[in-house]
Amino acid sequence: MANIKLDKLTKSYGDTEVLHHIDGQIEHGEFIVIVGPSGCGKSTLLRMVAGLETVTTGEVSIGDKMINDLEPADRDIAMVFQNYALYPHMSVEQNMAYGLKIRKLPKAEIKRRVEEAADILEIRDYLKRKPRQLSGGQRQRVAMGRAIVRDPQVFLFDEPLSNLDAKLRVQMRLEIRKLQRRLGVTSIYVTHDQVEAMTLGDRLMVLNGGYVEQFGTPIEVYEKPASIFVAGFIGSPSMNFVSATAANGVLTLSNGTTLATNTTAAGAVTVGIRPEHLFPNKDGVLKIEVDLPEKLGATTLVHGRISGAETAFTASLNGINAASTADVLSFDAPPEFLHIFDAETGKRIS
Ligand SMILES: Nc1ncnc2c1ncn2[C@@H]1O[C@H](COP(=O)(O)OP(=O)(O)OP(=O)(O)O)[C@@H](O)[C@H]1O
Ligand SMILES: [Mg+2]
Repeated sequence: MANIKLDKLTKSYGDTEVLHHIDGQIEHGEFIVIVGPSGCGKSTLLRMVAGLETVTTGEVSIGDKMINDLEPADRDIAMVFQNYALYPHMSVEQNMAYGLKIRKLPKAEIKRRVEEAADILEIRDYLKRKPRQLSGGQRQRVAMGRAIVRDPQVFLFDEPLSNLDAKLRVQMRLEIRKLQRRLGVTSIYVTHDQVEAMTLGDRLMVLNGGYVEQFGTPIEVYEKPASIFVAGFIGSPSMNFVSATAANGVLTLSNGTTLATNTTAAGAVTVGIRPEHLFPNKDGVLKIEVDLPEKLGATTLVHGRISGAETAFTASLNGINAASTADVLSFDAPPEFLHIFDAETGKRIS
């Protein structure tokens, strides 16, 4: 069983600690996405699991066996990078077979595995071609093929789609998901793209500045973000935030608007409301002065400020809305869609 355990993992370069006490339990066959902004430590964490970076303190285990000191080649892991670095002088077939040849697998077995992977990835017609004779998406598939033929316990992906154009990314994303389901191989996937994270992961590990902000299913992370950071990072357009004072179940926003809630919070808080959770109602208490309506077709994004405060607010409305600059629109902000965070720590108050 290829379950993976991260136990108080830290990584330091010299005196600088870049990952701090990372804990996480990954089940056999699970697809985990590590997501966070540039420089937060995603690749470093993945490379520690791969054995390409040493562990400063803490433990990494695969299948309940501590592997801190195991060589990368002995970890039974296959990794797909952003820069898939195929050997240019080798054919697709040779590229896929190379790792197995090094391992001295029998020729017939290599052929069988390569052909099987080529069928799964639908690249059988390209086996004799050189990488330069392939499109970006096809090369990406060859890189995946190289990982699949290894038949590893664990797949590790580091932004494997970031060289592809937007449409191909969406297509490859679906293919990776289907492939992982079909093969049932425990996988860790690194991306800074929150949409990719939400659509691919069974669970997301949201990293920020080397700390785990939240580790949960996409729906948990969306519905109950553990911190202002997660709330702002996951969801598009981003959640709106406004400072407020909480007392006796009533939130008084910085512009004086009061909102009913079922919170027990008291004192200074930050209130978060997603753009899709503002509901137009001419009697609604939350008023937005429109700066710019963006008519996207399926939705209209109304960018503005809440009346009486300079706080930027965006509302997402269904369909094409007639809102125009300088209008004031009124919204309901129902209590079940309000997110309340401690103003000081930024942590969610349940
Ligand atoms: N060899 C190194 N020596 C010193 N600092 C390093 C080294 N490698 C990475 N770092 C630092 O560790 C932190 C995490 O880097 P890492 O590459 O893991 O980020 P990342 O989340 O993968 O970012 P990106 O999305 O840009 O790929 C960064 O602040 C980086 O500068
Ligand atoms: Mg990286």
